[in-house]
Amino acid sequence: MEKKNIDWGNLGFGYVQTDKRYVSNFKDGSWDEGTLTSDPTVVINECAGVLQYAQTVFEGLKAYTTEDGHIVTFRPDLNAARLKASAERLEMPAFPEDRFVDAIAQTVAANEAYVPPYGSGATLYIRPYLFGTNPVIGVKPADEYQFRVFATPVGPYFKGGVRPLTIRVSDFDRAAPHGTGHIKAGLNYAMSLHAIVSAHKEGYDENLYLDPATRTKVEETGGANFLFVTKDGKVVTPKSSSILPSITRRSLVYVAKEYLGLEVEEREVYLSELEDMAECGLCGTAAVISPVGKIVDHGKEICFPSGMTEMGPVTKKLYETLTGIQMGRLEAPEGWIKVIK
Ligand code: PLP
Ligand code: COI
Repeated sequence: MEKKNIDWGNLGFGYVQTDKRYVSNFKDGSWDEGTLTSDPTVVINECAGVLQYAQTVFEGLKAYTTEDGHIVTFRPDLNAARLKASAERLEMPAFPEDRFVDAIAQTVAANEAYVPPYGSGATLYIRPYLFGTNPVIGVKPADEYQFRVFATPVGPYFKGGVRPLTIRVSDFDRAAPHGTGHIKAGLNYAMSLHAIVSAHKEGYDENLYLDPATRTKVEETGGANFLFVTKDGKVVTPKSSSILPSITRRSLVYVAKEYLGLEVEEREVYLSELEDMAECGLCGTAAVISPVGKIVDHGKEICFPSGMTEMGPVTKKLYETLTGIQMGRLEAPEGWIKVIK
């Protein structure tokens, strides 16, 4: 199979239209059999639930070309389970988890020409999503839904590739106590748009959101969880009921303990503790592990000793081990890698 003529090494994190996408519709209480289509457009009623009341949830995962030339995805079963949890919170029918994993495989296989080659630095980003399609004008859940999966080749999420980021402590919240911060709902990202535009205008790469109840604890950024490394080499990651349970973070906790023999603490992390940390990183499917060099809290700079040019040494080991597992250079824990081809 011939690959598309794409400058893989210079891809950013953007949308490139690929050949096929998966579509299934929910009507009269059940999902249809689903199909691949070439049509990238969605035609829905002007009063669709998604358009009026933002009834939409999504996922993000990647396909990788391994060192030995296979195409694989990483823990898609966890994305299936998280989409189900997100759907239930917004009163939507979940897409069956086994069918979710199969839809991912079909979409990746049908777009094989767009899966970036091993070593190119790019990957195929996969976006499954689910939204209410029939008219609703009173505030209530839709009765009809569409589940779609498209794929797009991507490079690094942050401009400039792997370089330490500068983040500000945001005055805006992205979640509410007992709200929807723990699910992957489009509405959380709408909440963050003004904050990210204003952070970029002020020269920051991202926002650090504090816990919305007390504004003293570190939550996450608009698109990734935090990992910190203490000066004695312990990995610390915030625990909160209003952050997204990142699959990358959960995988890194395992990698840190079982592959690298590191001590890991999943606990509340106070903003006031950050000046004692040695390293900081953002982790997520899109972010992979992006090092953070500096956090600015209303003019007060918290500079991590790892500096503004390099990834910290523990962050780097975590990055290399995780990407090694994803690209087939290191043996994966049972069930983590789903081979597509
Ligand atoms: N937090 C937020 C708000 C996100 O959007 C994402 C991306 O999916 C993550 C964390 C990281 O989650 P994952 O590692 O499952 O991609
Ligand atoms: C992902 O990492 O998959 C996400 O959904 C994050 C998003 C901000 C691109």
